[in-house]
Amino acid sequence: MNGHTAQPLAVSLAGIDLRNPIILAAGTAGLVDDVAGVIDLTMVGALTTKSITPLPREGNETWRVLPAGAAGMLNAVGLANPGLDAFLSETAGKARALPCRVFVSVAGFSIDDYVQCAANIDAFIGDSGGCAAANLHAIELNVSCPNVKTGTEFGHTAALLTELLTAVRPQVHHAKLFVKLSPATPDLMSVVRAACDGGADAITLGNTYPAMAIDVETRRPSLSNTTGGLSGQALHPITLKHVHDAYRRVMLPRKESGQRVVPIIGAGGVASWQQGAAYMLAGAAAFQMGTALFADPRSPRQVAKGLAKWVERQGVGSVGELVGGVRLSGG
Ligand SMILES: Cc1cc2nc3c(=O)[nH]c(=O)nc-3n(C[C@H](O)[C@H](O)[C@H](O)COP(=O)(O)O)c2cc1C
Repeated sequence: MNGHTAQPLAVSLAGIDLRNPIILAAGTAGLVDDVAGVIDLTMVGALTTKSITPLPREGNETWRVLPAGAAGMLNAVGLANPGLDAFLSETAGKARALPCRVFVSVAGFSIDDYVQCAANIDAFIGDSGGCAAANLHAIELNVSCPNVKTGTEFGHTAALLTELLTAVRPQVHHAKLFVKLSPATPDLMSVVRAACDGGADAITLGNTYPAMAIDVETRRPSLSNTTGGLSGQALHPITLKHVHDAYRRVMLPRKESGQRVVPIIGAGGVASWQQGAAYMLAGAAAFQMGTALFADPRSPRQVAKGLAKWVERQGVGSVGELVGGVRLSGG
């Protein structure tokens, strides 16, 4: 073990050493260094950028982010981002100065969009001397976007995701390739299997849930886009079950049959160390925090501290030993 993994919270995620399993979620932590003055990045393992698309996008009109009471938050930001060229020429280089790893989120409205972004970001990493030199370690495909041709999300079915990964996987040589799945699919486990078979190095489960709000006085939808995605507290128990299912029904059988086990990243509703710990017991190798950052930018620090004490109380040397460690009845 090297010095990095000797720390109780250190994890190796798809071969990427992280100081702890906390990852800031795409779209909630700015582009690259935007949150550096607000969130203590020495307390997280990695930060995920906003989703990058080939062309710049201004996103939707106001209101595009709204509180949703105790449930969390509604958003329909519409993938606002500066576009691939500006990201690579002006922003990606800033990752080098950050004290945590950086993952680049990519989105698109056609297979070519994803290929263009993934290939160019990976080439940038290669030209910069590799992942360690660039401090860009993974490309996370946000497959919750609709294909303009069909209107169907790229992660909606195993067949669509397979088509996407067949095109993207050969383009990525330096970075690890993560696939972030949407929970709103008819058969999520078949999509998880397709991500594994398509060569994903890790699977992020999951994104926001389709949702809306209505202003009952004006009788209009509260979001300018009419519908959006729900994030935050309400997601945790639902996504926790998705992680549990993916681990038990896909990863453990793969392990038993000698196939590659793909690490899972839990994402949805983590505001406390207990919620992060639950993802790890369900089978996640790491977890993300998004909406909680808006309420309290110091929450990652509290989560890291709570996790460290929990690992000690559990009597294990490393948090990684607790992955999948939920005690099921009869087990
Ligand atoms: C304001 C906002 C913007 C988001 N933008 C993106 C995005 O650009 N790409 C993406 O993959 N997910 C995006 N997400 C989803 C988050 O990355 C995360 O998957 C989701 O919010 C669930 O985690 P949470 O409950 O911890 O927030 C966004 C979420 C919010 C609240």
